[in-house]
Amino acid sequence: MVHVIDHPIVQNELTILRNVATKSFNFRKSLKKITTFLLYEMMRNTRTTRMEVETSLGKSEGLVMDEIIFITVLRAGIPMLETALDIFPNAQGGFVGIKRDKESLYPIVYFVNLPNVTGDAFFLDPMVATAGTVVKAIKILCERGCKPKGIVSIISSRKAVEILTEKYPSVDIVTAAVDEKLNKNGYIVPGLGDCGDRYYGSEIG
Ligand code: PRP
Ligand code: URA
Repeated sequence: MVHVIDHPIVQNELTILRNVATKSFNFRKSLKKITTFLLYEMMRNTRTTRMEVETSLGKSEGLVMDEIIFITVLRAGIPMLETALDIFPNAQGGFVGIKRDKESLYPIVYFVNLPNVTGDAFFLDPMVATAGTVVKAIKILCERGCKPKGIVSIISSRKAVEILTEKYPSVDIVTAAVDEKLNKNGYIVPGLGDCGDRYYGSEIG
């Protein structure tokens, strides 16, 4: 199921990210901020274990979040993973390196480094365009015995949402926006441009 987060804090950050005039320094800050709030929504129903905690004045009921795995894609997903690992104490992180063939847009896997554990896994990718990258990443996770539970993206295309909800009905998608179009180069329109280039300041012009 797709969850589009329309909270003003999220939409304010999305607007900063979409704005072509936003320079890398502020783009980086907004990407991490929006990721924090998208993760907050994604983790609403995460598994927890009840525990008792001792306060200075007595006992209280509490909980700890169970272990989770966050996987991201090089390179634009790196700040999303860093944000997740800052927030969740019992999380482990992994990477997949996937690039799209420029002509066919077919995803090519060139690197995989996943934690040596199985469990609930969440895939973090700022831009889900054709969905080829996410589908490939989920396949890799399943082969390693992980259970894909969710996809956190900043912008997803309508086509990607249709593909993912059909293919993985039990995997939740949390996103700040679903944009209607893809251009011939596989970029989301209106989108926010090339996320990795804008984050790392490597865009041309
Ligand atoms: C982006 C994005 C996804 C992929 C989406 O990465 O982070 O991984 O494209 O495409 P898909 O849904 O059509 O497969 P990009 O190719 O811009 O690489 P970068 O992070 O190195 O800039
Ligand atoms: N990668 C990006 O950075 N942006 C898009 O719109 C699609 C893929």
